[in-house]
Amino acid sequence: MKFQLKTLTPAQACTEKSDALLILLPSQAKSDKASKASWPLAQTVQGAQASGDFEDKAGKVLTLYGAAGVASRVAVVMSAGKSVDKNVAKNVRDAFAAGMAALKGRSVKKLTVVLGDESQSQHLPIVMQAIADATYVYTATKGTGTKDKSGRMLAQVTVGVADSVKAKAAFAHGQALVAGMDFAKEWANRPANYATPTMLGEAAKSLAKAHPAVLCEVLGPSAVAKLGMGSFMSVARGSNEPLRFIVLKYMGGAKTTAPTVLIGKGVTFDTGGISLKGGAGMDEMKFDMCGAASVLGTFRALAELKPKLNVIGLIPATENMPSGHATKPGDVVTAMDGQTIEVLNTDAEGRLILNDALVYAKRFKPAAVVDIATLTGACGIALGAVRAGLFSTNDALAAELHNAGERALDLCWRLPLDDEYAEGLKSNFADVANVSDRQGGAVTAAKFLERFAKDYPWAHLDIAGVAWKGGREKGSTARPVGLLLEWLLAK
Ligand code: BES
Ligand code: MN
Ligand code: ZN
Repeated sequence: MKFQLKTLTPAQACTEKSDALLILLPSQAKSDKASKASWPLAQTVQGAQASGDFEDKAGKVLTLYGAAGVASRVAVVMSAGKSVDKNVAKNVRDAFAAGMAALKGRSVKKLTVVLGDESQSQHLPIVMQAIADATYVYTATKGTGTKDKSGRMLAQVTVGVADSVKAKAAFAHGQALVAGMDFAKEWANRPANYATPTMLGEAAKSLAKAHPAVLCEVLGPSAVAKLGMGSFMSVARGSNEPLRFIVLKYMGGAKTTAPTVLIGKGVTFDTGGISLKGGAGMDEMKFDMCGAASVLGTFRALAELKPKLNVIGLIPATENMPSGHATKPGDVVTAMDGQTIEVLNTDAEGRLILNDALVYAKRFKPAAVVDIATLTGACGIALGAVRAGLFSTNDALAAELHNAGERALDLCWRLPLDDEYAEGLKSNFADVANVSDRQGGAVTAAKFLERFAKDYPWAHLDIAGVAWKGGREKGSTARPVGLLLEWLLAK
């Protein structure tokens, strides 16, 4: 799917020959002026509004077929809601989600979209994301002969704005975001037998090969053993698939600038290990590498946009399997920094791979470290699918991430890290246990990680509730690529 930016008024957009045309009306305060401006659908829209057939509310659309003066087959006029509404970005997203829904099932290869007023063009990343989300097609394991095999039908999107020069940065951000989210979805959605730790390593390497701005190194079992990552290795023990520790580097900034480190949980399948999970819905544990996928996606976006930033990506990748070699409840393992851990529950494996990555991150003398993980079912219970859990030992970093999430509409919410939450992690046989009681499970998991993240500003995003959808719409959301990219670009 290719995006193209153009200066277009709604009137000019009507003359573009596309399969479909999406027109975002100016926000209401300006619509008087705009409705006086002559464009082919002005009267139709006014009439529909006056008769109550087209409410001026974000998410309401008017779909027209073969309209006079419109070169495209289908035109969808979208309300932008009232400009007095607080969240303009959300209105723009709702409008485009509804506009794209109106095109569902139609044969649209070429699409033109046009934004009615200049202030809307700052929201291009959200517009382009909505278009990409609505047209994404998973292909990797579809058989030949099925129509899904060919992927997205939409090939060409012309984005019309009032001033294409002023909108250039937002457009480039949007392009990078879409490339990054598509990449994250691709890997997150793959079944575990098509996304083994080895294959994730290969995916990272080919990303680096295709984009020289990205460097990649992949460590295997012997290198990881040499580093002393006994905690990470204890999770991989039960699997026949060898673990991988993926190191990505994007060094677009000054050599002297301390990098930001992103760490993604890469459990390519989580059975729970000896503390085996129940069978119902276990297939969804192929999504337990969505943190890793979000790091890969963010690097894909950086490769596209080439900002002046230094970013390191770390992905511990492994399966969590039961077997004769698997770690047993009660086993004590030693992390890279020497802390010993009593593994009371082998299903609390995410924290046992992230901790070694957190220790490894020290060597980069990072400005900040953010880990992203489908860490606890408890976080999904607490916050549902709307907001990810945000934990941080640094108020400024927490505020930056929270605010980036608000701007990108990729939301998170800060949860506490009081020391009292760590009480239950005390062990009689090691420095720390890997689980506490069930209460406050998202927080106790974060308290465990905090022990390994004392040397730099650190934040943890628990994306267990938001990283994928279940049911009919089962699939990756690519979250929080939007948040991470927005945060990095604001630096
Ligand atoms: N990957 C899971 C967390 C998870 C579960 C994410 C369901 C999304 C949906 C994680 O490894 C896990 O199993 N966590 C346990 C922790 C518990 C044993 C303390 C959990 O959440 O039940
Ligand atoms: Mn688990
Ligand atoms: Zn897990």
